[in-house]
Formats: sequence, C-alpha cells, structure tokens
Amino acid sequence: MINLTINGKQIEVEEGTTVLNAARQNDIKIPTLCDHPNLTPYGGCRLCVVEVKGMRVPIASCTLPASNGMVIETETDSLKKSRSTILSLLFSERNHFCPFCQVSGGDCELQNSAYDEHMTHWPMQPQWTNFPVDTSHTRFILDNNRCILCRRCIRACAEMSGNFTLGVEERGSATIVVADSNVPLGESTCVSCGSCVQVCPTGALIDRSSAYLGHDKQMTVTRSVCRGCSLGCGIMVHTRDNRIVKITGDYENRNAGTLCETGRYKTLDEKRVRLTTPMKRVAGQLTATTWEDALTTLAQNLTPNKNKVAALASTRLTVESMAAFKSLFADGLGNDVVTSIEEGRPTALQAKYAEANGEAIEGKLDTLRTSDCVLLIGADLSETHEVASFYIKRNMPKGTRLIVVDPSENGMDDLANLNLKPKAGTDEAVFAALEAAIIKEGLARTEAKSSKTALKNALKICELAEEDVIDVAHMLAEAVAPVIVYGKGISAFGNDAVMDAMVRVAKLTGASDSERRGLLSVKGEANSLAAAQLKMDVPFDVKNRKVAYLAVGDDYISKRLLKSLEDVPYLVVQASYESELTDRADLVLPVNIWAEEAGHALNTEGRVQFAEAALTAPEGVRSNLGLLNEVAKLLNVKLNDDWRSALTARTSVVEIEM
Ligand code: SF4
Ligand code: SF4
Ligand code: SF4
Ligand code: FES
Repeated sequence: MINLTINGKQIEVEEGTTVLNAARQNDIKIPTLCDHPNLTPYGGCRLCVVEVKGMRVPIASCTLPASNGMVIETETDSLKKSRSTILSLLFSERNHFCPFCQVSGGDCELQNSAYDEHMTHWPMQPQWTNFPVDTSHTRFILDNNRCILCRRCIRACAEMSGNFTLGVEERGSATIVVADSNVPLGESTCVSCGSCVQVCPTGALIDRSSAYLGHDKQMTVTRSVCRGCSLGCGIMVHTRDNRIVKITGDYENRNAGTLCETGRYKTLDEKRVRLTTPMKRVAGQLTATTWEDALTTLAQNLTPNKNKVAALASTRLTVESMAAFKSLFADGLGNDVVTSIEEGRPTALQAKYAEANGEAIEGKLDTLRTSDCVLLIGADLSETHEVASFYIKRNMPKGTRLIVVDPSENGMDDLANLNLKPKAGTDEAVFAALEAAIIKEGLARTEAKSSKTALKNALKICELAEEDVIDVAHMLAEAVAPVIVYGKGISAFGNDAVMDAMVRVAKLTGASDSERRGLLSVKGEANSLAAAQLKMDVPFDVKNRKVAYLAVGDDYISKRLLKSLEDVPYLVVQASYESELTDRADLVLPVNIWAEEAGHALNTEGRVQFAEAALTAPEGVRSNLGLLNEVAKLLNVKLNDDWRSALTARTSVVEIEM
C-alpha cells in the first residue's frame, strides 16, 4: 500500500493507483475531461492537473502514479486559473454554441466542467472554422465542431471493441476525428457497437435514436441484462414516459460496458405490432376474448394426459419462467417434449458430454482476455456473439494469434493469422488431424500416442493442407494460454466423437488444463445454458401431440419451426407481438416483453445475473411467469419454484455461480 496526502488529507491506496483514482477513492473531486474510468488514461486535456510538492510544474493526475509520501494540492488559486484557461481554450477552439447542442443542459461534460469553474462566458474569440460533420452512419453522427479531441472515442473503439476504426487526421488545431483512412463513417469498418458514442463527453458523437428525446436527468435508468445472446452483457435501460429511449453499456457489470449493435440498438428498431388482448379462434377466425375465457379454454385443452402436449419456450424468457415452464409441462402435466426454441442445438452436445464425465469442462469468458492464441471453430462470433469477438480483437495488436476454422465465409476470416477451410461436416477429422500433428511434432503437453497414418488419413477426409495443420498445431501448443472457442457448428452438427476429439486436442495443447479451462462454447440466446440445465434441449417433435404450446415471449421463430406446426390440432401461443405464428394459433395469450419483467439470466459462462424491469407492461398483458402460475393453479399443478436447484440438478458444462 501507498500513503500520500491530498489537500491535507492522509490517504492510503494500492500500489499502481493513479493520483486521480486515489483522489476519487477518497471522495476528492478533481475535474477531468479526457479521462474515462474504463479506458486507459491518456493525459491529453490537462484539466486534471494537480500540484505535487517538490515538482516545478503542475502534473496531470490521471496519468500520474501515486507514490509514497507524495503531497498533492488540487484546489490552489493557480490550479483554478489554469482550469479556467484550459476550458476557455476548449470553448474557443471550435463551435460550442451550447443552446443548439442536444447534450447542453446537463449531459455535456465540457459544459458541466465550465459551470463547476463558475465560467459565465468565453473570454476568447471562438475560431470560426467549419469542421466536417459526418452524417453517413445509420446509428450516429460525428460533428467535429463539438469535438474536444479527448480521444475517448478512439480509445473505446480500440480498447472496448477492438475495432480500431477511429483515429485522427491533420495536426494541431486542425486535428479531426476520422474513420479508417478518412472515409465516411457509414462506409468504414465501424461495427456500430456505439461504445464511442457512450464515452463522448460532448455533443460531438450524437446518437440518432435518442437525440433530443430528453436529458439523462429526465430519464429513469434501470440495470438489466441484454438478451441478444448468451454473453449476458450488462446494460442500462434509459426510459422516459414508459418508453425506452436508449440502452447503454453497464460499466460495472458483465463485459464492463461493452455492447454490440444488437444489444445497444435492436430493441429500439422494434417495429412489430404489440399484442394486448387474448384471442381465441372462433369459427376459423381469431377473435378477441377475455382473460377469463382464454384461461378456461386453455385449461380445457391442457387437461392432464401424458404426452398430449409438445411445449416449447423461448430462451429469452427469465430463468424463473423457463423453470416454471419445465415444471408445469414436464413434471406437472407429464409431457416428454418440453424444450426450448433452440431445441438444444447450441448446447445439448456439450451438456451431454459434461454429464457423462461428471465435470465442467468449459471456462469463463475472461480466459479470452489473457489468451495468446485462439482457435475459433464452428462459430462466427462477429455475427452471433459479437462482444466475444471484441475480446479477441482487442488483444490481437498485443500479439494474440487467431486461427479460424470454418468451411464457409466467417466474419473473422480477415483478422485471422490462419484460416482453415476444411470440407464441410469433417470437424472430427480436423481435430484428429490436429491431434496427430501435435503428437508428431512432439508438442503434446500430456502423454499421447498416434498411429503413423493418423495424420494422412484425417487430412484426406477434411481436405486440409498438412503444413497448415502443422502450423496450427505449433501455434496452439506453443501458446502460453491457448483457448478453443466453439459454436453451433460443432454443437448442432457434431456428435459425441467430435466432442471427444475436441476435448482431446484441448488437453494435448493445455487449453483445458484444470486451472484455466480454455475451452469455451458460446451457445445461443440469453438463457441457452439454462435450457440445457433444465434439460429443455430436445427436438420439438409435435408428432401425435394434440396440443402445441409455444411460450415465445418477444422472440422470433424460424420458418422451419412454423412449418413443423402445420398438422398440430391445437396451437397455443404465449407471445408479445403479432407474427405468422400468432396468425396461425388457436389461442393467443399476450405477455410481457423482456424489459417489462424482472428476473434472472444465466449466461454462457454460468453467471447468474438479475435484470430489473424497466417498463410497465400495457394493460391486458400478463407476465410470462404470472401466466404460467395461473395456468398451473387452474390445472392443480404445484410448480417447483426452486429454480436455482433446478439449474444445478445436472452437471453443467461450465461451473454455475449463483
Ligand atoms: S458539446 Fe457541450 S460544450 Fe460543446 S456545444 Fe455541445 S453542450 Fe456546448
Ligand atoms: S468525438 Fe467525442 S470522444 Fe471523440 S475525441 Fe471528440 S469529443 Fe472526444
Ligand atoms: S454480445 Fe450478446 S449480450 Fe452482449 S450486447 Fe451483444 S447481443 Fe447483447
Ligand atoms: S483528464 Fe487528465 S489530462 Fe484529461
């Protein structure tokens, strides 16, 4: 620990803490602009300068490491003067005509800093140069006239999203923020994650969907969990008048504020028509009815009769709702087809493997932070689990190597150090070839044998070049912290033999040593892992079933699933939006969307997280869990509400942390 004095107060902080953070930890406010708690300190704006006893000039506290015996002053007259000068210069450098700016009046850190320093006007004549405004992007606008060159956006793009799209061009006061080699943002390599917009302290990066819809202080901010995929990124839902205005990353939660385009914007793109009234098919027509009638009709159709119903639930529902669904339809009503919308495609294979071996084999997402070599197979993370791709991309400039194995085009192909394009459907042979190459090259970290012909035989099947497979063997086995990330390509289309072969390679390369567990599967939607744990991971086989009950909530269903329902005698749909599915239903039960109900989510790495409700549901709409409870009551079924025990009843592929 380190002892120092700030403004006469003696404080103790951990070694490596900056003076700025030392002050923050002790409730001493030092003004800042370019600093952001989630980004590497840059030291550009100089607003945070402090006086350090024994030093001739004031120093930027955001980049200054605290050291033993330091004596710091933060509020001297000369420092206050220097801050005012810095702010005056910033205001004069570009067009900061606050009344015309959407962040003015509370959301602008520059304006707020000026108020804090009691500035009433700009003492210097503003520069009247017009800087470029880039409106080419569909999600946000970059107005260089409002830019203070703090470079937070550039750091966020690199450090959070690993995208390295933003940079600067020109010099001195002519410096501007640009995308790639100064191409319009809308034509650049930007992946629309919006991290730059969230960190921008001024009105230079303007979010198109929330601009002019209110100041932060007029909004209610609710902590929640993104349901876009199984990574479970922490989000803050900003609402006003019971409407979502924007979604931002939660710096204090899973994935530390980093979101992808889906997580930040997809909810705002919602155009589907909301269901608010129960509907029942009468003389071939879907007709609005009362909840009382809908529930009576439902109870008549669900009367207990073994395997009468095939039931399917969305993995976007809360864990509580999914567990209740399983308890009602499987344990209570005695049906064996009780599954999730993913039908186990992204999870069943590895869940079965873990259960058979009685142990968790996968690790946590954080292993990606420290990995120096990642083998990605059967997954296009840039399409399905984008924040996981950011984890990899962030580290590539530091030397992390990426191997992409995918017979088709993969969004991460261009970044890979090596692309392997095996023949489709030959994953077992790919792993067999890798295994044989590792052994042949003497790289195996555990004892292993392989036949002389194993490599050649495997290569013949997967149609890969021997030198490529040997290169991959070296890259993986010689890495300090290798990680294998696999996706639906393996879990949905592989089999036990593929799984065995992959785990063998993970062991041989040290990727799955018990300490680190560098084997990860990204799975599917939000509660994919919960579906596996609840054994809701079987195909949705409606053959010979009298009723199909689909609790899809706000999810979408595939054409294939829709087609499979054609011959079902009676179709019940618990949904939030009108769709082809509800058009076809015999009974429609309107329910909440994700943001209207509180509950838990279990992410791909076994982390249980609580999401608060951010919106009040429209009148006439039931909560998913409430509705399942009502149905259970009507049918005299006692639901098991101990969802935590239900989740851990089966050995999980990854340790579950409650
Ligand atoms: S970015 Fe901030 S300081 Fe600049 S015009 Fe907008 S409100 Fe004013
Ligand atoms: S656009 Fe915003 S975040 Fe980026 S440098 Fe300018 S002011 Fe800073
Ligand atoms: S990576 Fe997944 S959980 Fe994270 S923001 Fe994107 S869709 Fe949401
Ligand atoms: S906050 Fe320290 S130099 Fe900008």
